[in-house]
Amino acid sequence: MNKITIRDIQKLKGGDTPFATITAYDYVSAQNADAVDIPLLLVGDSAAMVVYGMENTIPISMDELIFLVRAVCRGTKKALVVADMPFMSYQASVEDAVRNAGRFVKEGGACAIKLEGGTPYTAQIRAIIDAGIPVMGHVGLLPQSYNLSSGYRIQGKSKHEADKIIEDAEAVQESGAFAVVLEGVPGDLAERITKLLDIPTIGIGAGPFCDGQIQVYHDILGLYGDFSPKHAKRYGNFGVEIQKKLAEYKNEVEGKTFPTKEHFITSKTQLEKNH
Ligand code: KIV
Repeated sequence: MNKITIRDIQKLKGGDTPFATITAYDYVSAQNADAVDIPLLLVGDSAAMVVYGMENTIPISMDELIFLVRAVCRGTKKALVVADMPFMSYQASVEDAVRNAGRFVKEGGACAIKLEGGTPYTAQIRAIIDAGIPVMGHVGLLPQSYNLSSGYRIQGKSKHEADKIIEDAEAVQESGAFAVVLEGVPGDLAERITKLLDIPTIGIGAGPFCDGQIQVYHDILGLYGDFSPKHAKRYGNFGVEIQKKLAEYKNEVEGKTFPTKEHFITSKTQLEKNH
């Protein structure tokens, strides 16, 4: 199978079958997602929380993300890898935006970047695209604006807020984005935006009427403690499974039942093998 391109993602607009995308943060998670033909992997700034243990996504840096982007690209043969622009990597200037998006592509190996925000960042989106880098938009609930919105709150419940989100989504499309994430908005609003736009919408906490869905890898696999956001379904509880297996390993080492003779050699067996 060939590498997925942004054109392939754009073709998924308006299809009968919604498409699934997911975040990935390392070689193994990328390999797992690629093995089941998930077409787009986002190296999300959610890595701040699920990889680095930060309280929210605000503190993560470009350098902390670039290492993860590289690992994800190494684990991916097919999926389109999108790198998430962290807080303050693009907000202050168009020049910052182009330079940092360029780092993700040149140093990280990503094919595209994502950035949060609509109307205020159209200049950044256009300039990044002019530099040859595809952009995925992100409107609605913007985790990087955590302080401004006094926490993570569903957006677009009032008419005023809904109109603003529609305006943002349209601005992102007009600026040339190939797809847009709709996060934390009512399902009917997401449906309206999906019908309005020509580019694919990818929902998270935005109901079933988007062209595609995205979820955080750790949320759906139960790898991030007991925390489970409302929008996430847990398909497994692998954090608990891993702990059980680690406890087994620890007990076997302490009980001297591991390692056994099939797990090591002695100089004598080595000598016998050589003759
Ligand atoms: O950082 C992230 O994981 C994201 C997705 C939730 C869309 O932005």
